Amino acid sequence: MTSSSRTFPALLVDHSGESSRREVVELSLEDLEAGEVTIEVEWSGLNYKDALAASKDGKVARISPLIPGIDLAGTVIASTSPEVRAGDVVLVHGYDLGVAHHGGFARIARVPAAWVVPLPAGLSAHDAMTIGTAGFTAALSVDALEVRGLRPGGGPILVTGATGGVGSIAVDILATRGYEVVASTGKPDAAQWLRDLGAVDVIGREEAADASRPLQRERWAGAVDCVGGSTLPYILSSLRYGAAVAASGNTGGMGVQTTVLPFILRGVALLGIDSVQCAIDRRREVWARIATDLRPRGLEALGSATVSLAEIPQALDALLQGAAQGRTLVELSR
Ligand SMILES: NC(=O)c1ccc[n+]([C@@H]2O[C@H](COP(=O)([O-])OP(=O)(O)OC[C@H]3O[C@@H](n4cnc5c(N)ncnc54)[C@H](OP(=O)(O)O)[C@@H]3O)[C@@H](O)[C@H]2O)c1
Repeated sequence: MTSSSRTFPALLVDHSGESSRREVVELSLEDLEAGEVTIEVEWSGLNYKDALAASKDGKVARISPLIPGIDLAGTVIASTSPEVRAGDVVLVHGYDLGVAHHGGFARIARVPAAWVVPLPAGLSAHDAMTIGTAGFTAALSVDALEVRGLRPGGGPILVTGATGGVGSIAVDILATRGYEVVASTGKPDAAQWLRDLGAVDVIGREEAADASRPLQRERWAGAVDCVGGSTLPYILSSLRYGAAVAASGNTGGMGVQTTVLPFILRGVALLGIDSVQCAIDRRREVWARIATDLRPRGLEALGSATVSLAEIPQALDALLQGAAQGRTLVELSR
C-alpha cells in the first residue's frame, strides 16, 4: 500500500440528518484537509467542547462531517515545513482543530505547521494528552492570576468544576505551587480524590453558586472558574479586595448576572481565559512551563481512564451530563 492510499480509522460525526450520526469509519489520506504536517496520532483526550462538537445542538462543529477531537499528540510522519520534521513528537490543540478542521479522533491527522507545538522535553505524548486543552487552560489561568500578582501564602484559592478536566488540573498545579486550594464540586464522593490532588478543603457546588447578595464576606484570594452561570457572580461577590478570578468556561450556564459592586468597591478583576486563539509562540511557551514549573504532579491520577475510538460517543455523553472526573484519554493505537 502506498502512503497516499493508506487507510486509517476515524470517528466521523455527521450532523446533516435529523439526528447526528457518530461512527468509526475507515478513511484515506485524501479525506483529510490540506496542511504541511501529517501526524500519526498516538493519544487524544476528551473535552467538554468535544462533547458539544459531537452533538447536533452543541453549536460548536462548523463542518459536517467532522472528525472531532480538539487535542492530539503523536509523531510526524510527513512534513513540507522546514520547522517540523518527520519523526518529531508533537502536540496540536486549538484554532480550528476538531471544530472546523478534522481533529484528533483519528489515527492520522493533517494540520498547518503554524498549529504544531513540539513536545517539550520531559513530557510524553501520553502526559501531553493527560494535560491537553483542559490542562493548558488551567495553566493559562494560573499564569494570568500570577501576572496580576497572586502568590502562594496570600489566602485560599477557589477552583470550581474541580473534578472536571480544567478544574482538576488547576487544583493540582496550584497545590503543587504551594497555594491553599479549596475545590468546589457537585460530586461529594470525589472529595477524597480532590484532597489527594492537593485540595486542603472541598465545598459543595451550591455553596459556590450562592449569588443571592452582590457583596459577601471577603473570602477568596483568587479563583479559577470554568463553570460560569451563577458560580461566577458568587465568586465576584466573595473575592477579597483587589483579587481576581480567571474565567474560562460555562458548564453551569452562559448567562452571568452580576452587579458592578465587586468591581467598584473591592477593585476585583475578571480575567478572561482563551486557549483557542492563543498565539502559537505563547502556546509553545506555556507548554514549556507545563513541562517544568507548572507541571501537575498527579498526572497518573488525572488521566487514568482510557477509551478506544468506538467508546468515545458514550464517554462524551457522560461528559455532557457533568459526570467527568479527571481526564479521559483516547488511545489511537488500539
Ligand atoms: N476558555 C477556554 O479556552 C476553554 C478551554 C477548555 C475548556 N473550556 C471550558 O471550560 C469548561 C470545563 O471544561 P472541561 O473540559 O474541564 O469540562 P469537564 O471535564 O466536563 O468538567 C466540567 C466540570 O464542571 C462541573 N459541572 C458540570 N455541569 C455543571 C453544572 N450544571 N453546574 C455546575 N458545574 C457543573 C463538573 O465538576 P464538579 O462535578 O466537580 O462540580 C464537571 O466535571 C467548559 O465550559 C469548556 O467549554 C474553555
